[in-house]
Amino acid sequence: MGKKLKASSISPANIAFIKYWGKKDKKLRIPLNSSISMNLSHVYTHTTVEFAKNFKEDTFKLLNEKTSSMEEKRVFDHINIIKSKALINLKAKIVSVNNFPKSTGLSSSASGFSALTMATVEAAGLNLNKKELSQLARLGSGSACRSIPDGFVKWQAGDSHKNSYAYSLFSPKYWKLYDVIAIVSKQKKLTSSTKGQELIKTSPFFKKRLKSVNNNLKLLSHYLKKKDFTNFGILCEQEALNMHAVMITSWPSLLYWTPNTLKLIKLIKKWRQNNLEAYFTINTGQDVHILVEEANLEKLSSKLKQLKFVKKIIINKPTIGVRTTEKHLF
Ligand code: DP6
Repeated sequence: MGKKLKASSISPANIAFIKYWGKKDKKLRIPLNSSISMNLSHVYTHTTVEFAKNFKEDTFKLLNEKTSSMEEKRVFDHINIIKSKALINLKAKIVSVNNFPKSTGLSSSASGFSALTMATVEAAGLNLNKKELSQLARLGSGSACRSIPDGFVKWQAGDSHKNSYAYSLFSPKYWKLYDVIAIVSKQKKLTSSTKGQELIKTSPFFKKRLKSVNNNLKLLSHYLKKKDFTNFGILCEQEALNMHAVMITSWPSLLYWTPNTLKLIKLIKKWRQNNLEAYFTINTGQDVHILVEEANLEKLSSKLKQLKFVKKIIINKPTIGVRTTEKHLF
C-alpha cells in the first residue's frame, strides 16, 4: 500500500463493565486483568494526521481544549512508534477534536489514542488488521485498544505485546443497551488514570480485587450472552464500586466522586425501587454512566433532565469501533 501521507479517523470512547485498573507492564500497558466494554455512539474523537517534508517538527492541536507539554509528548511518543514501524522520517501535523470535554472521566484517552493510531497508521501507509491496530492503540492508552473493534468488546489481558489486545464479542446491533452519561461537573480530574493506577498496590483491597475479577469476567460474559439485564446491571455496579473502593483506599487516596456523583447514585437506587431499572458505573471522574434498556430510556432521560445538578446528558447506544473518514480537519 502506498503512503497517503494524510488521513483522518473517528473513534468512539468506550465504557468498561469490568474495569481495567492496574498494569503488569507499565511501558507496554499490559493490564493486570482482562476487561469488557461497549463502544459509545455519541462520545468520540475525530483526528487528522499529515506527514510532510516541509514540517519542521511534530505538532499537535486539540481543538477547543488546552494540552500540556506532557500530553503532547505522549502523543508524539505514540506516533514515533508508528513512524518507525513504517520507516517514515517525516514530521507530522496532528489535529484532533473531541465532541465532549476531556479529563472529566469520559474516557478521552480511549477515543483519542484509538483515533490517533488509526489516522497515523493510514497516513503512514501501513496495512494492519484490527488486532494489530488494537495492540498499537494499547501502547498509547490501555483502554484505547477497546475502541478499535466493534460493539461489545473484550480486552484479553495477555502477558506480552502480541497477546494483549481487544476483540469484538458482539456487534453493536446485538443488544439495545443504552449508556446515558450524566455530566455532573465539568471540573478536570486531579489525578490521571495513568498516575492513579500506579497506586493500586497501596490499597489493602488490591489482592482481593484481582482474586474476584476473573470470576466476574466470566459472570459478565454469561449475563451478556443471555441479555440478562438485571444480573448484568447489578454486576456492573458492584464492579464499579469495587474499583472505586481500591481507588479510595489507595495512598494518596483517589477520590474521584463529587457530592453530586453520590446524589445521583442514591437517586438511581431509589428509582430502581420504583420500577425504573437502571444501574450506574463510574470511571476515573465524577460523571455517572447509567445503563438502561430501551424500554426505560425515555423515563430515565426525563428524570435526569429534571435534576438541576445534572449539567448535560449524553445518550449512547453501542456502536462500531474506529473507522477512517474522508473528512479532514485541515
Ligand atoms: C477507570 O486506559 O485511561 O476508565 O492505560 O494509563 O492510559 P492508561 O489508562 P486508561 O485507564 C482507564 C481506567 C478506567 C477503567 C476502564 O476504562 O477500563
